[in-house]
Amino acid sequence: MRLFVAVNLPDEERQAAFAASSPLRSARLPVKWIAPDGLHVTLKFLGEVDGERAERIGPALDSVVRTVRPFALTLGGFGAFPTLARPRVFWLGVERHPALELLANDVERALSPLDFESELRPFAPHLTIGRAKKGARASAFQDLERLAAVVEYQGVTTVASVDLMQSTLSRGGATYTVLHRALLGGGR
Ligand code: 2AM
Repeated sequence: MRLFVAVNLPDEERQAAFAASSPLRSARLPVKWIAPDGLHVTLKFLGEVDGERAERIGPALDSVVRTVRPFALTLGGFGAFPTLARPRVFWLGVERHPALELLANDVERALSPLDFESELRPFAPHLTIGRAKKGARASAFQDLERLAAVVEYQGVTTVASVDLMQSTLSRGGATYTVLHRALLGGGR
């Protein structure tokens, strides 16, 4: 199964993020936009994992986040990877909160004994809202900088859990399911 670890947002926040990005969707860009229930902050992508190994992930996450306190995280802004001029991934911004960085580190620490390699790239928290379609040309995005200025998004969410997610790929796109929720502070 294809797995990753993420921070999910409450439904109201996902709806707010989705609504804020509507000017982008109206612009009919060659982009596959993500539905509200697909919005999350990825902490670590794990890829294909067999069942036996997958079963050990939830308890490993539980044990590292048990001592972490829930915290408030600010969301806002819009951008694209690698650049607005040649965009591949469209995102809404996530505050570089030290607690979030530590949480991503905790996830690495929990998973390295299960032989998941540590991420070499620096952690760049973001909320992916869409991906450029295959073969989309840079010229299709000429207006993006102007559109970016129209996206007004400010949100705040409480990070209270880290979720083990399954991604199921199909022709319509990926669907995400929470397999295990590790509660910060053990849920206390
Ligand atoms: P991102 O696009 O939000 O950064 C499930 O595919 C999630 O894992 C996606 O939301 C994606 O996060 C993330 N991810 C990170 N690296 C990936 C990779 N190499 N392949 C697929 N998804 C990846």
